[in-house]
Amino acid sequence: MVRRVLVTGGAGFIGSHYVRTLLTGGYPAWADASVTVLDKLTYSGNLASLAPVEGGFTFVHGDICDAELLARVVPGHDVVVNFAAETHVDRSITGPDVFATTNVLGTHRLVRAALEAGVGVFVQVSTDEVYGSIAEGAWTEDAPVSPNSPYSAAKAGGDHMALAYARTHGLDVRLTRCGNNYGPYQYPEKIIPLFVTRLLEGRGVPLYGNGRNEREWIHVDDHCRGIQLVAERGRAGEVYHISGSHPLTNLDLTNRLLRALGKGPEMIEWVEDRKGHDLRYALDDSKLRALGFRPGTDFDEGLAATVRWYVERPDWWKPLLGGER
Ligand SMILES: NC(=O)c1ccc[n+]([C@@H]2O[C@H](COP(=O)([O-])OP(=O)(O)OC[C@H]3O[C@@H](n4cnc5c(N)ncnc54)[C@H](O)[C@@H]3O)[C@@H](O)[C@H]2O)c1
Repeated sequence: MVRRVLVTGGAGFIGSHYVRTLLTGGYPAWADASVTVLDKLTYSGNLASLAPVEGGFTFVHGDICDAELLARVVPGHDVVVNFAAETHVDRSITGPDVFATTNVLGTHRLVRAALEAGVGVFVQVSTDEVYGSIAEGAWTEDAPVSPNSPYSAAKAGGDHMALAYARTHGLDVRLTRCGNNYGPYQYPEKIIPLFVTRLLEGRGVPLYGNGRNEREWIHVDDHCRGIQLVAERGRAGEVYHISGSHPLTNLDLTNRLLRALGKGPEMIEWVEDRKGHDLRYALDDSKLRALGFRPGTDFDEGLAATVRWYVERPDWWKPLLGGER
C-alpha cells in the first residue's frame, strides 16, 4: 500500500499538475497517500501553482543535489516521483552547467537516497528528446538514446543513472518518456504560454527557422495519468512512452494560437533557428496502451481551454515576466 509519496520538482508545470490531481482524488488508488513536495523553487518553480491544494502537503524547499537533505527527507516514503529538472532547451545552450548538475548529478543523488532509504518505487520522468530526431516513423522504448541538446543529453544521463540503480542494485526504477506538454501553469518561456502571453500584451511571436519542426503534443493531465499508471502498474527497470499522438509543426501550432486570439500572421517574427534544433520527435506508446492508457483530452478542446486559462490568469503569469522575453 502506498502511504507516502515524495514528489520532487512538484512546484513546476507538470509536477504541480500531478500534485493537484493526486490531492484532489484524481488517482483513486492513492487517494489516502500523504504527499511531500521537494522543490528548489528555481525560476520555473512556483508555489502559486500549488495554491489550490495549499495545506494538503508537506513542502520542503531544497535541492535534489543536496545529499544531506535527501538523507533526512527521503526515508519514510514509499514512492518517489521525480519531476525536478532544468527543462528549457534554449537555456541549456547558453548556460548548460546547471543542466548537468541537476539533471545528471541531482537525479543520481536522488536515486541513491531512494536506494539507501528503501523506497519501494522510483518513477523518473523523462522526455522524447533523449532519442535525438527522427525523420519518419516513431521510436519504441528500445530505440538507442542519441541526444543533441545539452538539455536532452543531461536528461539522458539522469535516465541512465536511474536505470543503472535498477540493474545494479535492484531498485524498482520505472522511467517515462513523453512529448511536448501543454496546459495551465506552464512557465511563459515555452512556446504556448510564451506566444499566448506575448499576443495578450500586443507583441509579436518569435518563430524559429522555417517553423517546420514537428512535435507531438499531449495535455499535461494525460501525461500525469500516464505517469500514475506506470507508478501503479508498471514494471521495475522498464521504460514507458507516453504520447498524445497529436503531431503538429511549430508553424501550425502558431497559426492555431493566432486564430484563437483573433490575430493574423503579421504577428509572426521569424528568428534565426535554434542551434542544433531537432526536426521531429515521435513516440510509439503501444507498451503503455497495453496497460490501458488512453489520452483523454481532445487537442482542440484542450488547447482552447489552455489559451482561455492564460487569458483569465494574468495574476499567475504577469509576475513571472522577465527582461529576456
Ligand atoms: N514540459 C514538457 O513538455 C516535458 C515533456 C517531457 C518530459 N518533461 C520532463 O518533465 C519534468 C517536469 O518538467 P516541467 O515542464 O514541469 O518543468 P518546469 O521547469 O516547469 O519544472 C521543473 C521544477 O523542478 C524544480 N527544480 C529544478 N531544479 C531542481 C533541483 N535541483 N532540486 C529540486 N527541484 C528542482 C523547479 O523549481 C521546478 O519546480 C522534467 O523532468 C522534464 O524533463 C517535460
